[in-house]
Amino acid sequence: MSSFSNKCSISQLITQISRHGYLCHMNIHIISVLPELMESPLNHSIIKRAQEKGLLTITLHALRKWAVNEYGQVDDYQYGGGAGMVMMCEPLENAILELKKENKFDEIIYLTPDGATLNQSIANGLSLKNNLLFICGHYKGIDQRIRDHYITKEISIGDYVLSGGETAAIVLVDAIGRLIPGVLNDETSALTDSFQDRLLAPPVYTRPADYHGWKVPDILLSGDLRKIEEWRYEQALKRTQERRPDMMDGEG
Ligand code: ADE
Repeated sequence: MSSFSNKCSISQLITQISRHGYLCHMNIHIISVLPELMESPLNHSIIKRAQEKGLLTITLHALRKWAVNEYGQVDDYQYGGGAGMVMMCEPLENAILELKKENKFDEIIYLTPDGATLNQSIANGLSLKNNLLFICGHYKGIDQRIRDHYITKEISIGDYVLSGGETAAIVLVDAIGRLIPGVLNDETSALTDSFQDRLLAPPVYTRPADYHGWKVPDILLSGDLRKIEEWRYEQALKRTQERRPDMMDGEG
């Protein structure tokens, strides 16, 4: 399994986008024992729009299609004893091999709590790929031999254990999908997200300018774009210093 040496900063992302052309198409295949769980979240909002614009295709695959018997078995007891089932090699291998016949995957990603913790840099890097395969684990996870022989990256969405990799896959699709060029209307809005350039986003306000006597900062009403940009940068620095000083030390 390769490591995350290919992290991608926002400036690298912009360079790559201009090098690869503006409009790209990404294919994401997801193998899961519970594909229905992802249907609604992946068919709303920005990810829905990305698919409607033809920039992203998400294909969900039910692992049970490759079950080892008529009962739909895809998991078994773990060797050495202990609670919890393990997802078997055979259904996973057959699923991966069948999908590999039709697709040249850039990465085969296993969602697991012991993977590299997802951050903006990893999302930026993955958003430049064209073909991704995600494997969602369940129960105690997947047989180690599949990890050793087929998985190219392992990603966790945080230091907590979810009931399955599906919710993590939804998070990963969202984090990547919104970065595909052309998905967001205002291309700069992804570039000004928190974590791009290692800063949290500054506070934002909308109408009315006075709500219950709570006023929007004057500077935002001034119309002076240079001053507004300066103010936003200062606020981003202040917020990052207060809430996530680790990001400024280069650790975040
Ligand atoms: N599966 C279970 N917990 C997970 C996590 N934190 N990240 C990714 N996949 C998971």
